[in-house]
Amino acid sequence: RLLVIDFGSQVTQLIARRLREDGIYCEIHPFNRVDAAFLEEFSPKGIILSGGPSSVRTATAPRPIEAIYAYGVPILGICYGEQCLVAQLGGEVERATHREFGRADVTVVSSSPLFQGVWTEGGTYPVWMSHGDRVIALPDGFHPIATTPSAPFAVIADELRNYYGVQFHPEVVHTLDGARLLSNFTRQICGLSGDWTMASFREEMTAKIKDQVGDGRVICGLSGGVDSAVAAVLIHEAIGDQLTCVFVDTGLMRQGEARAVVDLFREHYHIPLVHVEAEDLFLSKLEGVEDPERKRKIIGGTFIDVFEAEAKKIKGDFLAQGTLYPDVIESVSFDGGPSVTIKSHHNVGGLPERMNLKLVEPLRELFKDEVRHLGQELGLPEGFVKRHPFPGPGLAIRIPGAVTREKADLLRQADAIYLEEIRAEGLYDAIWQAFAVLLPVKTVGVMGDERSYDWVLALRAVTSTDGMTAESYPFEHRFLSRVATRLINEVDGINRVTYDVTSKPPGTIEWE
Ligand code: XMP
Repeated sequence: RLLVIDFGSQVTQLIARRLREDGIYCEIHPFNRVDAAFLEEFSPKGIILSGGPSSVRTATAPRPIEAIYAYGVPILGICYGEQCLVAQLGGEVERATHREFGRADVTVVSSSPLFQGVWTEGGTYPVWMSHGDRVIALPDGFHPIATTPSAPFAVIADELRNYYGVQFHPEVVHTLDGARLLSNFTRQICGLSGDWTMASFREEMTAKIKDQVGDGRVICGLSGGVDSAVAAVLIHEAIGDQLTCVFVDTGLMRQGEARAVVDLFREHYHIPLVHVEAEDLFLSKLEGVEDPERKRKIIGGTFIDVFEAEAKKIKGDFLAQGTLYPDVIESVSFDGGPSVTIKSHHNVGGLPERMNLKLVEPLRELFKDEVRHLGQELGLPEGFVKRHPFPGPGLAIRIPGAVTREKADLLRQADAIYLEEIRAEGLYDAIWQAFAVLLPVKTVGVMGDERSYDWVLALRAVTSTDGMTAESYPFEHRFLSRVATRLINEVDGINRVTYDVTSKPPGTIEWE
């Protein structure tokens, strides 16, 4: 495996993505956590130094420990990482007066295992440059292997020690051949075989879970989403019925979903499952509450109460969570000097501390699409694995104003028709999230010869890569008309349909 030492670049995570896509297992660790003992313990076959916002010329500049150079494995420095390499090995780096970003063309001046099969001597190739400080003198043993007019040391190598440095970012897609360069570093230079697959992850992780849990009992809260389901199935594979799942049914899920979760776990996987039917409780707590934040707080608080009561009965030793890699990567921040912030998920409030439960988080090392992939590997149905995200507070935040059972039922029915039409049109997988919102507005219509006075439904569909920004999906008008006709004909209580064309920002994906 490979070690990525992070110096705080915005794109460090992409290094891990590119390597894993190529079957190379790697982990990212912040520079100030990698000491000699860590290095021994991790025993990497190669090291990548990431980019970062600092200048190596400042006194407080973060540096990797010198021990990495005595460790004897290949090292690739990217951008700031290249400058560290040069500065620490006796070269010279000049403080730049301004930074330069964007496309540049590098010309290869010497063939290298780094370029094997992609770049040839004399050729010119587009890369994504990020020019901070400039390398002006190379350490002994190094020579340039590619240059640009403004960066004579765009790519440098010391083939004897297997040290390489690139001034640009091979991990971003704008560097067309970047993934191939990284692959050459890990395979040709570090000698890694690229056999890390989901099947091998599954095997290793089940062994680890067995080891961690011993003969303890594990509780896993299912949300109906992909992450908790994949975590549960994997844990069950490892420890069988020492696992008990708890599914708190808020009554605020989409049509057929609660049933589907219960059936999948009980009937298909034979995993012990406690199904808490708490619709009445949630609806009574929400009665008359109109403020979106209060609705969210009530649902979150009620969820924790119900879950905790069930967890107490099970007498577990461990709590399983579907925490993912982006939630746990320790990000390096440089406000007032290097510091480390850790983001962590607490899906069920302070429960682990209160009940003295240890955590089992088997997905901590995976990205979202890797979790989907693992889900497929574990035999979860395709439709389940590819399901659009669904918020914890559920339909309650898609019913602006007070939530009632009648409104929830109406929305569930309308939402199912909308999604059915999207699937029939073959658009489901092209959309990040699609759902209906039941507005607290009544308008006048005419159906047959009758006057109607019913609710308005808003349809929402967005594309997004991470939910942080989003664009409204550009449906064809005839599609929206067809959906509107079906909704008004089939859902009693709705007589008008609108389409939300707001992007995020300034809107959010959900309405509340
Ligand atoms: P917004 O509405 O903030 O949503 O643009 C971004 C993404 O997050 C989902 N979302 C939630 N997910 N609990 C969740 O698990 C929540 O309280 C919650 N609120 C919003 C939303 O569906 C979208 O995918």
